[in-house]
Amino acid sequence: MAGAQPWIVVALDVDSGAAAEALVAELDPNLCRVKVGKELFTRAGPDLVRRLQAQGFSVFLDLKFHDIPNTVAAACRAAADLGVWMVNVHALGGARMLEAAREAVAGFGSRRPLLTAVTVLTSHQREDLADVGLDYTPEALVDRLAHLALESGLDGLVCSAREVEALRAAHGSGPVLVTPGIRPAEAAADDQRRVVTPEEARRLGADYLVIGRPITGAASPRRALEGIAAAIA
Ligand code: C5P
Repeated sequence: MAGAQPWIVVALDVDSGAAAEALVAELDPNLCRVKVGKELFTRAGPDLVRRLQAQGFSVFLDLKFHDIPNTVAAACRAAADLGVWMVNVHALGGARMLEAAREAVAGFGSRRPLLTAVTVLTSHQREDLADVGLDYTPEALVDRLAHLALESGLDGLVCSAREVEALRAAHGSGPVLVTPGIRPAEAAADDQRRVVTPEEARRLGADYLVIGRPITGAASPRRALEGIAAAIA
């Protein structure tokens, strides 16, 4: 399996830099990394990412770039300049976009961020794909786009824990697999439909577990994080 501890990536799905900082004050960077997505980045920007990193957190910049190759390459370089640990793109951007992204970060050597691809959004069902002209089941499209991303030299994939076993069977232990939709057995599923426990996700072969509300919405985020970290240790 690829990667290194800590395996937990806490999704900072809050709407201000102040709320993010209050939350991470409860978290131990030895036990988790953090994910900054589109809302928080649009509100709080690169300065927040720098402050999180200064506090010892590795940052997954979850902006899912998808544009012409030149623009995505420039955005990936900007993420690498910022010093983030991981950045991601949409595999649907195609081989030339994926290769441009890979080449853009390659120049950063040992400081280069991990580059992962989203295959099919879990909000997309077969009808949604048909609506945009893609005559595939989500599973078949995940398989096709996973091959494309990994053959384009990306480090790994963001995927459902339910897809991990098939991806490991097809691609071996090399790719970094990052999985959201994780719920400890005792936690509420919220709006997630097909959830997997942290222990099960790791057993299936996931490297990094993206976990939001079970930690961020807990009465004590610190204790919730410690509990999950102990469960997967
Ligand atoms: O609160 P929760 O644990 O459901 O948060 C999961 C995080 O992972 C959110 O930031 C969500 O946007 C993200 N995500 C997801 N499902 C995907 C891809 C990303 O839940 N397929």
